[in-house]
Amino acid sequence: MVSRELGQSGISVSAIGLGCMGLSEFYGAPTPASEAIKLLHRAVDLGITHFDTAEIYGQGRNEQLLGRAFAGRWLEIVLATKFGPQRDPVTGDFVGLDGSPANVRASCEKSLQRLGAERIDLYYLHRVDPAIPIEDTVGEMAALVQEGKIGAIGLSEASAKTIARANAVHPIAALQTEYSIFSRDIEQEILPTCVDLGIGLVAYSPLGRGMLTGRFAAISDRPTSETDFRAQMQPRFQPGNIEANLQLVAAIKAIADQKGCVAAQLALAWVLGQGNHIVAIPGTTKVVNLEINLGALDCQLTEEDQATLDELADQVRGERYPPEGMSTVNR
Ligand code: ATR
Repeated sequence: MVSRELGQSGISVSAIGLGCMGLSEFYGAPTPASEAIKLLHRAVDLGITHFDTAEIYGQGRNEQLLGRAFAGRWLEIVLATKFGPQRDPVTGDFVGLDGSPANVRASCEKSLQRLGAERIDLYYLHRVDPAIPIEDTVGEMAALVQEGKIGAIGLSEASAKTIARANAVHPIAALQTEYSIFSRDIEQEILPTCVDLGIGLVAYSPLGRGMLTGRFAAISDRPTSETDFRAQMQPRFQPGNIEANLQLVAAIKAIADQKGCVAAQLALAWVLGQGNHIVAIPGTTKVVNLEINLGALDCQLTEEDQATLDELADQVRGERYPPEGMSTVNR
């Protein structure tokens, strides 16, 4: 397995990690725990060392799942989790952001308990709280580093300015953001800032939430479950947008076919090819897809492939999130 460094943190992770959210929530019914644990163990066996969760995924259940899977094995992996967004414990609705120092500490303690771990390797502010100066949030995260409760600090969906302000308080190891053939808005300012400051980039939804794998060949294949956020509200999956987006996916599949790989591998190879400071955390609930995705490491893009793929992002229809989700993206 190819490894890459997360910024200047000294933390080395597999270039392809595992985004664990979908095992507990947002992409349909949760995966039964025994099956999910098998998948997590298989991932380690295949050389994956980077596992990404958050306190909001399954309202703590995703962290508990990883805690069960990795009890006694923390030294084999790099565990990343996140805090900040608040949910109503009964309805699960998102009710705000809390980047206050008190919540930094309280959330960290709760995550450690759910994980059953003594330390979180990489702790992210999941969304920037506009009501709290980033210096205050990161200042408290830096105290957690000093105390050994977390190993390194990350930010998720932060603007270039916020990243620079945060990095002045304490070195930021990683910026996590959506990044894929279809989602390239970070290339203007955020990506160059990360390069300048020596911050690693962790690309989530590198498969466009599954769309870039070509698994939805027609609009009739789109997810429809009530527990699938794509079906309910993700703009790119809504009728009116998805038809055009699937045509772009057909172009991706055509390139993949020519190269003898599959679209998911091409999509991941594209992300990893954008720089050595970038790692990807595709999500999957299936061992077969996990194994396919690791095949991306053998897929090389030519300049011609790159040029064809580079033209697609501007033609994508629909934002990354509905308006309430976009409002929490710090720009
Ligand atoms: P996120 O980061 O939000 O998890 P993503 O990595 O872009 O998003 O995409 C995750 C989705 O891609 C999941 O729905 C996953 O479905 P499975 O759990 O059924 O695998 C899907 N996915 C991942 N790898 C895939 C592959 N090789 N082929 C088809 N679908 C895949």
